[in-house]
Amino acid sequence: MDLHIGRPLARPEIEHLLAEARERTLLLTASLSDDELRRQHDPLMSPIVWDLGHIAHFEDVWLRENLRSGDTGSEGLRGIYNPFENPRAVRDSLPLPTLPECRDYLGSVRRAVLEGLRDLPTDLTAGEATPLLADGFVFRMVLQHEYQHNETILQTLQLKQGRPYAAPRQLAAPPPDPSAPAPGTMVRFPGGPVPIGTDDRSVAYDNERPSHSVELAPFRIDAHPVTNGEYAAFVEAGGYEEDGVWTEAGRAWRDEAGLAAPKYWTRGDDGWTERFMDRVGALDPLRPVVNVSYWEADAYARWAGKRLPTELEWEAAASFDPASGTASLYPWGDTAPSASRANLDAALFETTPVGSYPEGRSPVGCWDMIGNVWEWTSSDFDGYPGYETFPYPEYSEAFFGDEYKVLRGGSWATRYGAVRSTFRNWDYPIRRQIFSGFRCARDDE
Ligand code: AVJ
Ligand code: FE
Repeated sequence: MDLHIGRPLARPEIEHLLAEARERTLLLTASLSDDELRRQHDPLMSPIVWDLGHIAHFEDVWLRENLRSGDTGSEGLRGIYNPFENPRAVRDSLPLPTLPECRDYLGSVRRAVLEGLRDLPTDLTAGEATPLLADGFVFRMVLQHEYQHNETILQTLQLKQGRPYAAPRQLAAPPPDPSAPAPGTMVRFPGGPVPIGTDDRSVAYDNERPSHSVELAPFRIDAHPVTNGEYAAFVEAGGYEEDGVWTEAGRAWRDEAGLAAPKYWTRGDDGWTERFMDRVGALDPLRPVVNVSYWEADAYARWAGKRLPTELEWEAAASFDPASGTASLYPWGDTAPSASRANLDAALFETTPVGSYPEGRSPVGCWDMIGNVWEWTSSDFDGYPGYETFPYPEYSEAFFGDEYKVLRGGSWATRYGAVRSTFRNWDYPIRRQIFSGFRCARDDE
């Protein structure tokens, strides 16, 4: 699955990508009962039919209404599927469709979109098209939106109580590379001016632009995300009670929420177990810790005598090659992600031991920068210097400020087309239903 970043899309490619996205959405939800689809499993999440209807509505507004009218705005995003009018906590009291109604809606929007596509000129995404159409951006935006809601749906399914979700696994995990560095190993980034962000307009969100140079001091960064084994040492040493390694806000949330271990760990007679959907197993010390909040990540880092990286350090370590002085779309270069490079795409439905993807390494020697777990950074979510909203402020700008922390790199549940070195995710520092882990950094002495 390749989004062909950086070039226009031909109509058959658009049709193929849209069909593939929908096939996955339907696969992920195929085994769910009507009740499982319509119930609100957690106040943090939407009923899954809301996600499905919202996917259809978003596609309807951007690929049908706006392409017909030439508008570039988000005025059409109103009604029950508008996330701002209807925050997640109230979505169970909306007049949501039944599953058959929802499927009809998805299907009828898609049919209308495909019909509309046939009326547009063949070179509809070539450079001289409207800003929305140029280089096929609006199609990649709608595709990424469906991909992102696939991951949201998987967060809901991992959270839900009752019958465990029968995960439609696609692949078996690759064998770990015996020559991989040990957990906790750090690599050095030499610092200097590094390019951050991108000027791409074919796939990148407004918050990834513009490309700009940043002067970084030399730093060290973990070669792998922090593992369960490392994190269990923190738990066993009483790290959750060691007030000195928690910030005041982190301590307050720890106490209020009663945090004592990562979200899906359970202490049994024979030690910790960890759950991934319908699979419960002994905690694997070599897998990255996942489903931790920013506050937990930050406390661990301080306990270990390290700190979280800034998002700029993270991006430099993921994408920049000091030898050539250039940055790439992914840690391994510019070719699209695949199963040999990264644990992505809900192929496995779980994390993989660190050191499993030697072909995914970055030039400075960081593993798993893309895939496995989202990684908390110490940065607040804000616009880069020269940021310009495109095409609508409710995607990025509405969230700028010090309430959100940036996460990078994608998780096992992120679709291939929904992540790259410059991609920025964000969430509240208390959240841990997201598939979030972290790696640590340190100033270079
Ligand atoms: C980029 C994951 C923070 O889920 O809130 C989905 C993605 N935006 N629909 C979110 C998104 C609109 C967004 N995140
Ligand atoms: Fe959305």
